[in-house]
Amino acid sequence: MNIVLIGMRGSGKTAVGRILAQRLGRELIEMDKLIVDKAGLSISKIVAKHGWEGFRDLEEEITAEVARRDNIVIATGGGVVVREQNVTKLKQNGIVVWLTASVDTLLNRIGEDDSRPLLVGKNQREDIEITLAERQPLYQKAADITIDTENRTPEAVADIIANTKICCLIGDPVEHSLSPPIHNAAYKALGLNFAYITLRVKGIERAIADIRTNGIRGASVTTPHKVTALPYLDHIDPAAEAIGAVNTIVNDNGILTGYNTDGIAALRALKEVTDPSGKRVVLVGSGGAALAIAAALKENGAKLVILNRTEAKAQQLAKKVGAEDAGDLSKISLVARSDILINTTTVGMAPETKESIVPQEFLHDHLTVFDIVYNPKETRLITEARARGCAVVYGYKMLLYQAARQFELFTGRPAPLEVMESTLIKALGGG
Ligand SMILES: NC(=O)c1ccc[n+]([C@@H]2O[C@H](COP(=O)([O-])OP(=O)(O)OC[C@H]3O[C@@H](n4cnc5c(N)ncnc54)[C@H](OP(=O)(O)O)[C@@H]3O)[C@@H](O)[C@H]2O)c1
Repeated sequence: MNIVLIGMRGSGKTAVGRILAQRLGRELIEMDKLIVDKAGLSISKIVAKHGWEGFRDLEEEITAEVARRDNIVIATGGGVVVREQNVTKLKQNGIVVWLTASVDTLLNRIGEDDSRPLLVGKNQREDIEITLAERQPLYQKAADITIDTENRTPEAVADIIANTKICCLIGDPVEHSLSPPIHNAAYKALGLNFAYITLRVKGIERAIADIRTNGIRGASVTTPHKVTALPYLDHIDPAAEAIGAVNTIVNDNGILTGYNTDGIAALRALKEVTDPSGKRVVLVGSGGAALAIAAALKENGAKLVILNRTEAKAQQLAKKVGAEDAGDLSKISLVARSDILINTTTVGMAPETKESIVPQEFLHDHLTVFDIVYNPKETRLITEARARGCAVVYGYKMLLYQAARQFELFTGRPAPLEVMESTLIKALGGG
């Protein structure tokens, strides 16, 4: 995995990169140098001959080449973030570190160096002020870790980077995951030198080897790797072993243990409203999430009926967890005689928000309705359940509690739930 340094000219990317590369025994790649070498011209001359767009084209070519390499430190040019495709490529196998500094500090560090043509301003200060204002949101969006270099030596900045504990989400796709904002907000709230990044992973064997060798502290595991990850781990927690799927990996000095926090999280969310012990529960769906929840429900003494569009999968799951009954969706009227309904299907999830898996007529005021779909927060099922007087459990609560459990496994600290919850609600688009 690469370490990618971004930031304005004068933010210390090369100085920090040199120290970091030496300390980690890695090669330092200075992208501007590669561009100059490739063009056989100084940056001023490239810009004079081809304009800034020509320079950016060359930068894009070099970025694509560099991003394909592994285990290097990359000091990028200040404008690399201007083209989104550069950031996408660099992040595929890299942790992006944004080095920040005030305009005065940037000017001080650049000094009399006038080897670069100005981008927009009449003078160096104006150029930096305008460019920084334009790029700030792009740096912010690209950054996995942000380090204020003001009043810090390059050694001190390199120290912070080298000592940052990295956690990640591995899966495909991972782009729209809510996990990075939730975990990063929690690290920030407790002042922990941790960072949580996403890695789009196709080959699970290689990804797990990378977690081990790069000293990545922990990983959340999502579709399609929850089952395929198991053979590559050293230990599997009994709850994960029982269902044959992990959603969490913890790395203790190269020893990898797999956990599944979905079942515990669902139970915690449900128990805030009702205890499933001895209750008649209809669980709809038989996918990955259903498996973890059904196992946890049976362990907690629920009387369980599993219904699914594809009946064979419901039968299979019922057999695996020891559920009382199973069937297809023609048995959905059983909800009318149940205490708890749990939707674990994707029905109701954005963009198909007008759908509900259960006709409203079967909902009644003794029923607790738990919809594990969390996007949108208010699904049609939840809205209709409330209208019929049911108690409701939101899907986002399960997401929150599984992230909290992961946080505790990764950091060994109690999770700051309030911060995680408010970050999650904000990420879901409000209240
Ligand atoms: N709140 C949380 O923390 C949390 C955690 C995990 C998952 N989730 C949410 O839970 C949902 C399921 O996730 P998963 O990983 O279990 O997915 P999955 O393994 O793909 O399972 C999907 C399930 O939905 C059923 N389904 C899909 N389309 C359907 C339709 N049109 N009508 C009826 N049934 C349909 C499938 O039935 P068939 O077997 O017939 O295909 C299957 O049972 C997703 O919305 C996911 O975002 C939430």
